Amino acid sequence: MVKEIINIGCIKHRYTDSTEVNICGLNFLMYPGEKVALLGANGCGKTTMLSHIIGLLAPQEGEVRVLGLNPSRDFKKLRSRVGVLLQTAQEQLIGPTVWDDVAFAPLNSRWPREAVEERVSQVLAELNISHLARKIPHYLSGGEQQKVALAGALVMQPELLVLDEPFSRVDQRSKKEITSLLLNINQKYGTAILFTTHDLTPIAPLADTVYVMREGEILARGTPAEVLTDRKVLQAAGLETPDLLELFYALKAKGVDLPPTLSLEEAAAVLLREIKKPDPPA
Ligand SMILES: Nc1ncnc2c1ncn2[C@@H]1O[C@H](COP(=O)(O)OP(=O)(O)OP(=O)(O)O)[C@@H](O)[C@H]1O
Ligand SMILES: [Mg+2]
Repeated sequence: MVKEIINIGCIKHRYTDSTEVNICGLNFLMYPGEKVALLGANGCGKTTMLSHIIGLLAPQEGEVRVLGLNPSRDFKKLRSRVGVLLQTAQEQLIGPTVWDDVAFAPLNSRWPREAVEERVSQVLAELNISHLARKIPHYLSGGEQQKVALAGALVMQPELLVLDEPFSRVDQRSKKEITSLLLNINQKYGTAILFTTHDLTPIAPLADTVYVMREGEILARGTPAEVLTDRKVLQAAGLETPDLLELFYALKAKGVDLPPTLSLEEAAAVLLREIKKPDPPA
């Protein structure tokens, strides 16, 4: 059986102001090469869970295993194997220029200068931000900072990418570009991808598996189609059903029962077929 790369049962974290976050419910398991979305409303505990996975926080109770290690204890061993994009991307940008920032990890790992130059140019080009190489990260726009932080997460070609709200500050076109870049990286290198979101749109194209969280409780796991068509689960988690599915439900209520789909292209095809269907004989 394939060994999981992330395993979380029940964990409890108490912040210094004594806010308690209990992450429990279904076991959170993630496998090599898998693309997983962690879905949940604001404040439900997504960032808290990711912070445990990347070793920024340690649980007061329970255990977190990542690539067979304990992330808060084995932080250094995991550093180059796990690429991280924080929700507050600007806080992880430490280089005086974008180039320095993205080059930080490979230089720190003593890569030859030429290899660093090549890899940094490649990753900046993949994210369409080569023109920002000499800019000061602090002065970039929010979306630009997010892309630079993502470049830093990708530069070491990690086994696992942990991305906290990677689509929150980028525009529609960048969302599509980042989605196809991540799909490409996943296919080419088998990189596993875990991302959080409260926006449902990136889930269907990017995730194999979706976990739904409500106030720390992991209450559902399934494929994007299973989870996004489960109105009860979405409602329980305080999330909105995607507009496209609402359209299918509204049609069903009027007697037109068509198979709901999350893809705009498929929805157009289904609706066209229905419109062009010859009328039944009177
Ligand atoms: N540093 C902190 N100190 C005290 N409480 C915190 C801290 N960070 C998070 N919390 C609290 O823990 C709970 C979970 O927060 P968390 O940031 O994990 O949620 P989230 O699901 O990532 O939300 P969002 O979608 O807004 O990013 C919230 O009630 C929040 O107020
Ligand atoms: Mg968060």
